[in-house]
Amino acid sequence: MTGSLLITRIGELVTNAPAGEAPGPGPFAVLSDAALVVEGDRVAWTGLSARAPAADEVLDAVGRAVLPGFVDSHAHLVFAGERSGEFAARMAGRPYAAGGIRSTVLATRAASDASLRAGLHRLAGEMLRQGTTTFECKSGYGLTVADEARSVALAAEVTAEVTYLGAHVVPAEFGADVSGYVELVRGPMLEACAPFSRWVDVFCERGAFGADEARAVLTAGLGRGLMARIHANQLGPGPGVRLAVELGAASADHCTFLSAADVDALASSGTVATLLPGAEFGTRQPYPDARRLLSAGAVVALATDCNPGSSYTSSMPFCVALAVREMGMTTEEAVWAATAGGARALCRTDVGYLAPGARADLIMLAAPAHAYLAYRPGVPLVHAVWQSGRRVSAETWLAFAAGDSRVVAPGGHGGHIVEGLAFELVAAGPRVAPGLPGDHPLEALVK
Ligand code: NIG
Ligand code: FE
Repeated sequence: MTGSLLITRIGELVTNAPAGEAPGPGPFAVLSDAALVVEGDRVAWTGLSARAPAADEVLDAVGRAVLPGFVDSHAHLVFAGERSGEFAARMAGRPYAAGGIRSTVLATRAASDASLRAGLHRLAGEMLRQGTTTFECKSGYGLTVADEARSVALAAEVTAEVTYLGAHVVPAEFGADVSGYVELVRGPMLEACAPFSRWVDVFCERGAFGADEARAVLTAGLGRGLMARIHANQLGPGPGVRLAVELGAASADHCTFLSAADVDALASSGTVATLLPGAEFGTRQPYPDARRLLSAGAVVALATDCNPGSSYTSSMPFCVALAVREMGMTTEEAVWAATAGGARALCRTDVGYLAPGARADLIMLAAPAHAYLAYRPGVPLVHAVWQSGRRVSAETWLAFAAGDSRVVAPGGHGGHIVEGLAFELVAAGPRVAPGLPGDHPLEALVK
């Protein structure tokens, strides 16, 4: 789109408009019979349809709902290998153990850059197709300096929200030498990964890293200019949440097993409690108690935790449905957590809401209200997606799948990814790759 776009006759527009002067999303808010104007990559106007200004192009929403694009603040997308057997065994009664991570580490180390990239782009396209317009992506399946560095470099191709997770587990070659591995993670590995990363994360859990080790890694990352987030209290009670608050981490993620002190600490801090119901679904653990956190006054975000072990879903609508059905959240709270909450967890003030000045990341549902995301679980309700003011709709996906390779633009650092891209590249193989400049096909993107 070159000129302005007016989307009119929106049945329900979820705005999460800023409260007062504070930048970024405000509380959950909707407008009925609404309209929205996009100019360039920004939202220029929102209000009632009856008062909408003129624009170069007009799109009649015929009563559909429009929401901010989902902000998925927790995902592990750089990996190789296949673990459906582990999932099936777990569903047959074997408990989840973090050891499965090591099998993905072996497969990831053995994979070529091209196949890691293809998998990453496939998942990024899958997310966009389901309405996720901003996502975070972690390393953590390389666990050598070179493999972690290539993981964050690949992630930086598709998102600005790259997280260095060298402290995911202690790799097998270190045996019981946890402190030796921590020194690597906070030393040379951090040096190699920091230039590609915005965040540092640690899996603080029994069997992974304890409080002192996690603190050592996170303070090193903070000292290198990264911001902190933590995998905390996922598999049992532990020090992760309190460490997150102590260090001023943007987010404590999982929060499944919380003490009263953990809940109080979150409620009285700026640290967001990011809940990942896909992980409880995929591991048959109890769901986190969102109601308890919300009642205490904590800020709650929802994210997918997309990864091949505990939560192999890329679907924010699925997480919204689980949060409403299983975690005591209202539809308003869940949609806020999946949009504005994710923005808060990533310290972003440009996404997660729709008001003048916000990035024009929005989704239109094939439904009249946000509640349908939980009311009609499992149904592909995302009818159209705009990212930075550009439409990346189902039609684009279909055109690509039909062999139209004119789609696509670079994805990293606030760029634009066209849904379905990597899937098509994998399927198309040499038909797409030859003749394009750069060291991989995605660099030669043609509008
Ligand atoms: O967030 N908790 C640690 N990491 C992932 C699981 C990764 C895996 O099983 O491969 C998580 O659930
Ligand atoms: Fe995770």
